[in-house]
Amino acid sequence: MPAPQTPPATPPARAPLLDVANLSVSFASDRGRVKAIDDVSFTVQEGEILSIVGESGSGKTVTLLSLLGLNDPRTTFVDGSVLFRGQRILEMSDRQMRRIRGKDIGLISQDPMTALTPVYTIGWQIVEQIRAHERIAKAAARKRAIDLLAEVGFANPAEAVDRYPHQLSGGMRQRALIALALSCNPALLVADEPTTALDVTVQAQVLDLLLRLRDDFGSAIILITHDMGVVSEVADRVHVMYAGRIVERGTTDAVFADPQHPYTWGLLASIPPLHGARQARLRSIPGLPPTADGIPAGCGFAPRCRFAFDACAARPPDRRGDSHSAMCFLDPSDRERLRSEMLERERPA
Ligand SMILES: Nc1ncnc2c1ncn2[C@@H]1O[C@H](COP(=O)(O)OP(=O)(O)OP(=O)(O)O)[C@@H](O)[C@H]1O
Ligand SMILES: [Mg+2]
Repeated sequence: MPAPQTPPATPPARAPLLDVANLSVSFASDRGRVKAIDDVSFTVQEGEILSIVGESGSGKTVTLLSLLGLNDPRTTFVDGSVLFRGQRILEMSDRQMRRIRGKDIGLISQDPMTALTPVYTIGWQIVEQIRAHERIAKAAARKRAIDLLAEVGFANPAEAVDRYPHQLSGGMRQRALIALALSCNPALLVADEPTTALDVTVQAQVLDLLLRLRDDFGSAIILITHDMGVVSEVADRVHVMYAGRIVERGTTDAVFADPQHPYTWGLLASIPPLHGARQARLRSIPGLPPTADGIPAGCGFAPRCRFAFDACAARPPDRRGDSHSAMCFLDPSDRERLRSEMLERERPA
């Protein structure tokens, strides 16, 4: 007879929608394998907006493409596990993955030309995507495509629906791609710099649309952006990437109010103030970001960090599971003082 089971004292936490564990990615190069992502783990809950920020080359796009299995398997080596609704997606067949992509997971990629097919009109592509996942008449799907194009800011959507990608400007292509990604109300939208190519009014419109997707359909969103203003406006949580690692993670409120990593201090200091006099130019973090030569064994930011000391030659501890944590050897009780000193010293005269 099976032993009676004792109920757990506290109900188990709800399983995340997406659970990325120990993701490492390297590329084949003339010098052998070069690591671009080093042991990255994170989760996304249903309906939450997680923002990933970090300067160019920090590994944001590689992380997203790898967790969706979209890298070239001949030159890319991916380690780790990715669970979507409890299913391992990296091990899925192409057919299974295609069924999930588009319907359950929508991708707005950084380069719209690679995501749109040049030989079909954008309307055709949106209608096909809807009809691949839903039983719906062609005319109704076309009507939905036109409505979506209107929502992403096309002035004349009934005409735009019959255009080919090459007949659209870069900003229009980006918006067509957003319409395509939203067409099936995905449970998870992965958006890589969705608003960077757009002008300010359309940016605001697109952000509104993303928020509505979350509010109306409970969709979760991974939002990659350089724009810390956008992050503070829409994200529930923020992960800061530097040199292929997540160096700080926390709720948006915690990271903005009390940033823990010296790299995040620099990122936040480079945001122009909302009020008061504008600085003559944005402050930037001194030094160059790491190159594709790979990720150093120790802290990747140490060469640019004014607070680096001997310990930083080793990999900093990552207190995973905390609601707010940073990969940094500095004593947490010193950080606030060091940050104010840094801001004071760098204040423009
Ligand atoms: N296919 C590839 N082969 C070799 N190296 C690559 C490949 N794709 C990306 N990399 C390298 O991986 C690192 C991370 O690139 P990634 O595109 O993820 O940066 P990113 O954070 O998205 O930057 P950006 O903000 O400019 O989009 C870079 O050093 C890049 O040169
Ligand atoms: Mg990128």
